[in-house]
Amino acid sequence: MLAIIGGSGLAGLHGLVVNRRQTVSTPYGEPSSELVFGNLAGHDVLFLARHGTGHTIPPHQINYRANIWALNAQGVKSMVAIATVGGIRGDLAPGLISIPDQILDYTHGREATFFTQEDRGLRHIDFTMPYCGQMRTACLAAAEDAGVSVFDGGTYATTQGPRLETAAEIIRLERDGADMVGMTGMPEAVLARELDLSYAAIVVTANHAAGKASSRHGIAMEEMKKVMHKAMDKVQLILVKLAARDGD
Ligand code: HPA
Repeated sequence: MLAIIGGSGLAGLHGLVVNRRQTVSTPYGEPSSELVFGNLAGHDVLFLARHGTGHTIPPHQINYRANIWALNAQGVKSMVAIATVGGIRGDLAPGLISIPDQILDYTHGREATFFTQEDRGLRHIDFTMPYCGQMRTACLAAAEDAGVSVFDGGTYATTQGPRLETAAEIIRLERDGADMVGMTGMPEAVLARELDLSYAAIVVTANHAAGKASSRHGIAMEEMKKVMHKAMDKVQLILVKLAARDGD
């Protein structure tokens, strides 16, 4: 069964036939929302709204550990995370969908591991390739099946939020090698890896990052929302094909 973590603009899925909603708790506390067990075009999926059902939880206050733990506890092996980003690279224009392959982490103060002294003890994990190669390939193939063109790759810089960045911060991220910037990529990806889950992300560029192109003098927030909602329709087409590839 495929687990889908919905981000901004995707608090639910069109066409999802809901079988059951379950409120769960974990050793790390409560996940962002109830777990929604459903069927997407004939295939079982499990959906979780990362920011809560009413989109109320800011990126730095999401209980990432509870979210990943809760999904893992349902026996899920594959997971796709949906998120929005600002495009740093000029060609990652608003509305474009990408399947990133690298991560930079600028977050702080988030609970970022299951391996603490009190808990599971110290373990170091390999994180050279932060996203699962097989899952990325499945996402790319699902996009092709859906007839949606996507960008293959890119380095996703995760900032703390909830504010957007300054123009100078974006220049710094660009120098560091970032292609796009969002607020939820970490620690979600590393927690999935710690539990050996097959995890990849499908991200929508909602705006040019601060100081870039049409965001040179500021980010038009209303326009950003419009772009995001429109692109999420395409993401949903990809998810239907991805669920079909994942099997039940
Ligand atoms: N920065 C950080 N996160 C984002 C952005 C951005 O410009 N756009 C959408 N999520």
